Amino acid sequence: MFPTKSFPKLWHVGTMDTTHKRNGSFEGAGLSVSTHPEAWRRIARGHVTGPTWILTKPGNKFLDHYRLTEAQSTEIAKWAVQNGYAETATLYRVSHYDDELESEVYTDYHTREEAEYEADEESPIKEIVGGLVGTDSLHERTRTDASPVMVADLLSTLYAEDVLGLDGVWWNDKLSPEAYSAPRGVIFQSKVKEWSFVKKVDESAQSTVTLYHVCLTRSLPRILENGLAPRIGPRSKRRGEKKPAIYFFPDLETLDDALSNWLGDEFSESAKLALLKVQIPHGVEVKSDVEYERHIHEPVPPDHITVLTRDIDSFEF
Ligand SMILES: NC(=O)c1ccc[n+]([C@@H]2O[C@H](COP(=O)([O-])OP(=O)(O)OC[C@H]3O[C@@H](n4cnc5c(N)ncnc54)[C@H](O)[C@@H]3O)[C@@H](O)[C@H]2O)c1
Repeated sequence: MFPTKSFPKLWHVGTMDTTHKRNGSFEGAGLSVSTHPEAWRRIARGHVTGPTWILTKPGNKFLDHYRLTEAQSTEIAKWAVQNGYAETATLYRVSHYDDELESEVYTDYHTREEAEYEADEESPIKEIVGGLVGTDSLHERTRTDASPVMVADLLSTLYAEDVLGLDGVWWNDKLSPEAYSAPRGVIFQSKVKEWSFVKKVDESAQSTVTLYHVCLTRSLPRILENGLAPRIGPRSKRRGEKKPAIYFFPDLETLDDALSNWLGDEFSESAKLALLKVQIPHGVEVKSDVEYERHIHEPVPPDHITVLTRDIDSFEF
């Protein structure tokens, strides 16, 4: 019996628009899900953004990847080779002890040279005879380049979908966002339509801090596409700031006041300025050295930014 797990509820953070799916997900081509949406927002800050969805399906079943026996893993590998998703090859393993995860972690490489390049001088390199590498069919189906260390996970997804007919695969990773780890799963694309989705009312978004940011109007297309990134601008450089930051005004009154005093001097007189209202992402620390200014050291994704005006001269404060 293959080990399975079912969930009363699961969560997904994202737009739920399939065309936004990127290549290279550790869980392959389906919909990434978890039991800890806030941990995933933190781990993949800037990538895992947007609404939180609650997903349910009575009687759902996921393959519990970490509880596979050796015999079951071998059976999956055999099936994968027979079906053209994997080939056997000699691999080169570099291991180290991860203090935060409190366990040994490893990466496999195709060649000894690659492994030697990545390994610390004292780490031994172990030759794995009869290891598995992914084929183009695996890459295409899972939308990844399936590095050796991902192959077993990705093969599990294909076996669970094609042979076991399950909803997805579950990896019960340790909940440790600071070590970029949290339990996670995938629902296969062919099964997504059998699930119900309810958008969670985002209390955290309602309680986040709103701040105001002035930028050059000509920078707007870049900001609306990529968001705001912390940097050391000319004024910060003059003040000897060492850590990249994004600066804000706490309210429109303070901003209006700054505009008619010192802020205008910071930009060239002919430069057109825009005004942005910014919802600071949940969990980001807002700092302040002076009454009239706030700053953060984390990026702000585009969906947290609203343009109040593209020409601040014509804005009614
Ligand atoms: N998003 C999550 O809730 C979540 C949960 C667990 C793990 N993760 C990890 O974070 C990484 C990034 O996750 P991601 O979801 O932002 O990246 P992604 O590239 O899988 O998805 C990008 C966007 O496409 C949408 N999307 C993806 N697949 C979809 C589908 N089948 N149907 C409809 N919409 C779909 C998502 O809502 C998301 O906004 C994943 O590779 C995974 O390792 C994310």
